[in-house]
Amino acid sequence: MTDPALVPMAPMLIARGVEKSYPVRRASPVTVLRGIDVLVRRGEMLSIVGPSGSGKSTLLYCLAGLERVDSGEISLGGTRVDALSQSRLAKLRRDRLGFVFQSYNLIPSLSAGENVALPARLRGCRAPDAAAALAAVGLSGHAHKRPGELSGGQQQRVAIARVLAARPEVVFADEPTGALDTTTGAQILDLLRAHASGDRSVVLVTHDLDAAARADRTLVLRDGAVVAELTRPSAGGILAALHGAAPSGAVA
Ligand SMILES: Nc1ncnc2c1ncn2[C@@H]1O[C@H](COP(=O)(O)OP(=O)(O)OP(=O)(O)O)[C@@H](O)[C@H]1O
Ligand SMILES: [Mg+2]
Repeated sequence: MTDPALVPMAPMLIARGVEKSYPVRRASPVTVLRGIDVLVRRGEMLSIVGPSGSGKSTLLYCLAGLERVDSGEISLGGTRVDALSQSRLAKLRRDRLGFVFQSYNLIPSLSAGENVALPARLRGCRAPDAAAALAAVGLSGHAHKRPGELSGGQQQRVAIARVLAARPEVVFADEPTGALDTTTGAQILDLLRAHASGDRSVVLVTHDLDAAARADRTLVLRDGAVVAELTRPSAGGILAALHGAAPSGAVA
């Protein structure tokens, strides 16, 4: 009998040759992604770093099917995301993906608890234990509060609780610790790290090199292209790759 550990599992996400430009009025379009390849394995946490404007958020949006690519292929668990109709794509995102936005995107009229329960309600699933999900991000007793009654960092934690409570196959997180102090940020990274196991994966965009180094692999973006890939990264190795050096283990 074949050892199950030796059977290669189909990757969770494969992107090949992803290109994306945005039109600019009275000028030629700005090219943001220039033929990017990404592979995310099941149970893996992948981090993406790069200077501001290098295309990290755009790439995350494309991988999650929130933005259409101009060319290239994106497969999620064998489904060609780039070829889906709008309605099928919306269903796939609702049922299988979770996105933590750089700007939180909570529903202002709903309480924190209702925000956390919303994805499951939209899927027609049993509501998660919103109070427990909020407690896991350090927000016990805040379930009844509306986003406007919470600080930026607290809203960010509600957004993370909302995504994790739905237990999606892939969590895409854009700067999820950007508004958090070091201790709270570390707790959130522990939760994301714990999510990336078994059949579930995490793709994390961050400027925080220590956060990026918690991932299994790191992609370094510059000017819309992947310039390095590090396996079992260290913060120092990522910093060196960002500055153009080729640390051991980096693939240019
Ligand atoms: N909707 C859009 N229309 C036109 N240009 C855009 C649009 N979205 C992004 N861009 C441009 O694409 C480039 C990459 O933007 P993106 O937000 O992906 O960068 P980023 O790496 O996430 O930066 P940051 O670290 O500051 O969040 C920038 O030059 C930006 O101006
Ligand atoms: Mg960004």
